[in-house]
Amino acid sequence: MQHDVKDLALAKEGKLRSEWAFQEMPVLSQIQNRFKKQKPLKGITIAACLHVTTETGNLAITLKEGGANVALCASNPLSTQDDVAAHLVKNHKISVFAIKGENTKVYYNHINSALDQKPQITMDDGADLVSTIHTTRKDVLGGVIGGTEETTTGVIRLKSMSNNNILKYPIVAVNDANTKHFFDNRYGTGQSTLDGIIRATNRLISGSTFVVCGYGWCGKGLAMRARGLGANVIVTEIDQLAGLEAVMDGFRVMPIADAAKLGDFFCTVTGNINVIRREHFPKMKDGAIVANSGHFNVELDLDGLKKISKSTRDIREYVKEYTLKSGKRINVLGEGRLINLAAAEGHPSSVMDMSFANQALCAEYMVKNAKKLENIVYNVPEKVDSSVANLKLKALNVKIDKLTPEQDKYLNSWDMGT
Ligand SMILES: NC(=O)c1ccc[n+]([C@@H]2O[C@H](COP(=O)([O-])OP(=O)(O)OC[C@H]3O[C@@H](n4cnc5c(N)ncnc54)[C@H](O)[C@@H]3O)[C@@H](O)[C@H]2O)c1
Repeated sequence: MQHDVKDLALAKEGKLRSEWAFQEMPVLSQIQNRFKKQKPLKGITIAACLHVTTETGNLAITLKEGGANVALCASNPLSTQDDVAAHLVKNHKISVFAIKGENTKVYYNHINSALDQKPQITMDDGADLVSTIHTTRKDVLGGVIGGTEETTTGVIRLKSMSNNNILKYPIVAVNDANTKHFFDNRYGTGQSTLDGIIRATNRLISGSTFVVCGYGWCGKGLAMRARGLGANVIVTEIDQLAGLEAVMDGFRVMPIADAAKLGDFFCTVTGNINVIRREHFPKMKDGAIVANSGHFNVELDLDGLKKISKSTRDIREYVKEYTLKSGKRINVLGEGRLINLAAAEGHPSSVMDMSFANQALCAEYMVKNAKKLENIVYNVPEKVDSSVANLKLKALNVKIDKLTPEQDKYLNSWDMGT
């Protein structure tokens, strides 16, 4: 079994932390029990490019219990938990290729190592497996029956491939399941991004001005939680409806050029490029803290910042201080990579429970249905989405009402008015 991890001696700690996470993953746990008996993924090789966290480890174990051979690599150079990587290799014989802090060359070597296992299914978080297969690793293409995608940015890339008739196998957009983005993107990113910023800086959020760039699912969660910690929150947007929604939710909304002057903290969550640019940094207060929690490290124009800086220094772990020619200092967290995974541990297990339940069920769906599917991006089947919601409610011991026959009839009729 091939692998490339930092240190197998970390396996013991990784095992304990993974068990701790699994206690909050009752839906995935039920799926794992069923997979153990039914082996729906028997003989299937899955290449998964995900953030190598405790929760991902539990997904990989679930897929393996379902009969799959699993090769796992990281979907971000800074998001790997080295103890989890060691645990998966040592205790579960899963091929892991991921080391926290790997450079871009090693990152792509690891993707290629996962693809060397000749997968039938790809499981992506950001579409790097799919894009590599369609460019430099076409040798793998013939064997792949389908794939899944975990995040908004990946879904955008894959839809672009599909619209341009480039996509050569079907993908299920796990991100777009309601039981994924309602909870993972909103409450997961909301909490874990602040966790990352706080762990990196140990600064007080209360009373600060916190600028959230992007008011999509992640931005809504982040703005809500920053306000909960006592910040005055400003939102920036490019979409009229999202901007209006932020206003109605009680936030100040303005262009980034204006917000730049006011913020103590800035965090991008847009999935877009160069959202905070070279011209914005000189407007910021001395000591401003700038982070990103969107998928790629392109949301902050760090090249532009470097060009207008006279010096930089690593003032704390995950904090790089840029001193501008004016003497003003701007602090960038986690090299502009998603801060919740770089400086903290990613989303809490309870939300990843639903995201990864969708992943496991969609892998099973792909094995059963790939032959019938076209080479486009599909939504998660409604049955899968509602079964995840149902299992989660049961696990939380929450009961809801059932429609009476009269209510059911009423909701399907048109003829009854006042
Ligand atoms: N950190 C994490 O763990 C994590 C988790 C889930 C998703 N993500 C990533 O976060 C990003 C956002 O995901 P989402 O689900 O919220 O997407 P979304 O599409 O729901 O929201 C993105 C929002 O950003 C806005 N936007 C785009 N360009 C902008 C700009 N220049 N300035 C201000 N606003 C702009 C859009 O109008 C939209 O409202 C994606 O890259 C996604 O992959 C990260």
